[in-house]
Amino acid sequence: MGRSDGRVRPGRAGAHQGHPGRRPAQRTALLARATTSRAGRGHLRYTPSSVTPHGEDSSSGLTTANGRLVRSDALALARSLPTGEVDLVYLDPPFGTGASRAMLKGRAKTAGGAGDVGPSQTIRDIAYADPLLDPSSQVELWQEVRRILRPGGAFFLHLDWRTVHASKVLLDGIFGADNFLNEIIWHYATGGVPTRWFSRKHDSILYYVSGPGHTFHRLQEKKYLAHKMSRKGVPEYRDERGWYRYRFLDDVWQIPWLTQDSKERTGFPTQKPVALLTRILEACTEPGDLVADFFCGSGTTAVAAIRLGRRWIAGDESERAIEISRGRIEEEERREREADRDRPTKRPAEANTDEVRSSRSSRTEREDGGGLGDGGNASHE
Ligand SMILES: C[S@@+](CC[C@H](N)C(=O)[O-])C[C@H]1O[C@@H](n2cnc3c(N)ncnc32)[C@H](O)[C@@H]1O
Repeated sequence: MGRSDGRVRPGRAGAHQGHPGRRPAQRTALLARATTSRAGRGHLRYTPSSVTPHGEDSSSGLTTANGRLVRSDALALARSLPTGEVDLVYLDPPFGTGASRAMLKGRAKTAGGAGDVGPSQTIRDIAYADPLLDPSSQVELWQEVRRILRPGGAFFLHLDWRTVHASKVLLDGIFGADNFLNEIIWHYATGGVPTRWFSRKHDSILYYVSGPGHTFHRLQEKKYLAHKMSRKGVPEYRDERGWYRYRFLDDVWQIPWLTQDSKERTGFPTQKPVALLTRILEACTEPGDLVADFFCGSGTTAVAAIRLGRRWIAGDESERAIEISRGRIEEEERREREADRDRPTKRPAEANTDEVRSSRSSRTEREDGGGLGDGGNASHE
């Protein structure tokens, strides 16, 4: 059995010509080009800076050239956006644990389990409340998500065992069961071994599209081999960890949870790895596309969007979340500017030193998913 690492690359079906995720050096130019070309195809371009949700606290947000961070209730923010303009929505709402989530330097804390918000913690420690949730209370928001998505736009809803099943039934009613494409299982290893049931070590991410014409780039990840296999026609490579092949990503994703010593970690509870959002955005959007996240927490979606040259709208009702997101976004933008300044002037073809394969731009309806990757993992779709 081979192991796979968390990194991905666009597969044969992936558009990678000048892909910003692969070549940071050209992100800015690509963003501008992508934005113009989509506009040229008759798609209206919506500027994130024009977001003005009712009741927004504009004092704490942030507006950049390609994005907008807003302190706002999710529904109010969704309602403020025009119809059919957003390419992808990712929502990672509170999971309905019934706990209050506290800021911690190390491990995240939750009430009712590891990390209750105890009496010794101050109000500033509390990042956000996570009340017991009835998924039917989210229906209005999900209907708004469907309204703001462009035809063929994508909706990723990140949940866990508590609400995913009831939510799926409700979402089928809003998006149509035929528009449900995947339940992505994000599998991770974290501490804690319960004595009366199996360890719960995955989240579920429901992937819907709003109709025909969705974007999908097949991504490949490294699969490490016990030794060199030398199977005819299956290229094998070697790096410091050993021999590997590439295989197409399936719907079970092994991405490490952010550990205490992770550089990425902000201390915001339930912060998701940028690698998770990078996969979603690389697979299901194009450079210049508009991505929205109304429960942005620490700003992970915006960070991934900036790195990949996507436009973005991020919102959260928590002051703490906005504060942390703003810091991360400003830092990311600063790095971008520095990279822009430092980069040598090269034509795109010369700059392409990545191990990329042939590409096919895939604004297609329903990938057949039946192809074999180099690792030979056939899809069941
Ligand atoms: C699970 S966290 C999101 C974590 C985020 N994906 C990250 O990587 O940091 C959920 C977020 O939803 C926010 N939230 C809860 N109810 C909300 C509402 N009605 N409107 C906007 N944000 C809300 C919380 O403040 C919290 O930051």
